Amino acid sequence: MASEQQAEAGHRDIPNSAEFREFITSGWAASPTAGAASTARAEVADHAAARRAAVSERFPGERLVVPAGGLKVRSNDTDFTFRPHTAFAHLSGLGAGTEPDSALILEPRPGGGHDAVLYTRIRGSRDGVEFYADSRYGEFWVGPRPAAADLSSQLGLTVRDLETLADDLGKDDGGPARVVRATDPDITALLDAGRTDFLEADDEFARFLSTMRMVKDAWEVGEMRRAVAATHRGFDAVIAALPEAVRKGRGERWVEGVFGLHSRHEGNGVGYESICASGDHATTIHWTRNTGDVHAGDLLLLDAGIELDTLFTADITRTLPVDGRFTAAQRRVYDVVLEAQQAGMAAVRPGNRFRDIHAAANAVIAQRLHEWGLLPDGVTVEQTLDPDNGGWHRRWMVHGTSHHLGMDVHDCLLALREDYLDAELRPGMVLTVEPGLYFKADDLLAPADLRGIGVRIEDNVLVTETGHENLSAAMPRTADDVEAWMARIRTP
Ligand code: GLY
Ligand code: MN
Ligand code: MN
Repeated sequence: MASEQQAEAGHRDIPNSAEFREFITSGWAASPTAGAASTARAEVADHAAARRAAVSERFPGERLVVPAGGLKVRSNDTDFTFRPHTAFAHLSGLGAGTEPDSALILEPRPGGGHDAVLYTRIRGSRDGVEFYADSRYGEFWVGPRPAAADLSSQLGLTVRDLETLADDLGKDDGGPARVVRATDPDITALLDAGRTDFLEADDEFARFLSTMRMVKDAWEVGEMRRAVAATHRGFDAVIAALPEAVRKGRGERWVEGVFGLHSRHEGNGVGYESICASGDHATTIHWTRNTGDVHAGDLLLLDAGIELDTLFTADITRTLPVDGRFTAAQRRVYDVVLEAQQAGMAAVRPGNRFRDIHAAANAVIAQRLHEWGLLPDGVTVEQTLDPDNGGWHRRWMVHGTSHHLGMDVHDCLLALREDYLDAELRPGMVLTVEPGLYFKADDLLAPADLRGIGVRIEDNVLVTETGHENLSAAMPRTADDVEAWMARIRTP
């Protein structure tokens, strides 16, 4: 959005005479009446209503404010693509199409329960200046917005014009209120003006909203399946493009672009910045600079996920031999990581704790590193696995093995340790299992033939009543299967 100083600089020269205004705002056919497609209740509406009911029950009698957040300036008068806050999307049912600055408010009803009201920028009229002169929100510039009545029938919510939000919140009768604080500073400030001692209450609210997403319902699991299937197609496309990535130079960016193309075509975009790491870059856990070449003979570690328009995202890693065949040294590392991943996955079942997955994968990593003679002299596997005084093996796998996954790639991040790491796994949870081994090129403690090799294998796993289902099982994982996958795609 142009600042006052930018406006003063006067680069925009929009005609402003009454005649011009009359001319540009007239002569348009009436907005098309809503067709069945725009008024039909969205599939997500019932799920969002059930989520709101759970929130209502937990915080009776309180006004609950969940902002979507606003546009973030990229540079001068240019914004980043907008993505609503996840708690807002989860509770409203709106995803990628959310208007910036919207907010969901759960108003307590006198007799109990809450009314859900969505405040949003609704379809503007064409007779105002915004229509043609507002480059951030005007229809001429960024396209039309939905009509309030259409949104209301799609989502099963009351929809009010955002213009009335400040007034409606200002009419506060002093009753208790909570807000997800960090999302929209203006809305938070409005509420804070009428409250005392709210920080702890707000934190508790945000934590509840984050934790409540931990067990997915059947519809949400379906969305995860769709995200994984789309991501699979993105990986296929990258494999097909690898020869070109090698030829072109700066091949990591080519890989990022090919995956990004599919993510924008299939969904809202990538669920996080893609890690396209070839050669020694694969030993940097979050290599998102993606500036390197891709060379035949090296590995490409691709950690990427497609986020759907509903904001559910996959988070999958495959480590691929660029020319289609693993070398003996690469395979040695790969097979240990795979063994660790299998051990981690085997620990995914109800009754086990979340932390057991990491423990199982780490036990394999520690055992194999010990056999390779990499732990300091005299350090046993038991000693390195000691949570308080050990950890030598973690020089080569410093990250965790699992996290919850859903509408955020690191879903439920505000959940307390007792509800996350220390909690028992429950059917409906979706999590990653993603061990790795990373031997940097300049790691003098690593065997010479393994230096410059980084491997991670990451799958998205659903906890079931009896164990687990690997949602990304269709994406080949063993070294042999990965080679066959690549050969299949490259020789159609
Ligand atoms: N892509 C980040 C992660 O795997 O957690
Ligand atoms: Mn990942
Ligand atoms: Mn992950």
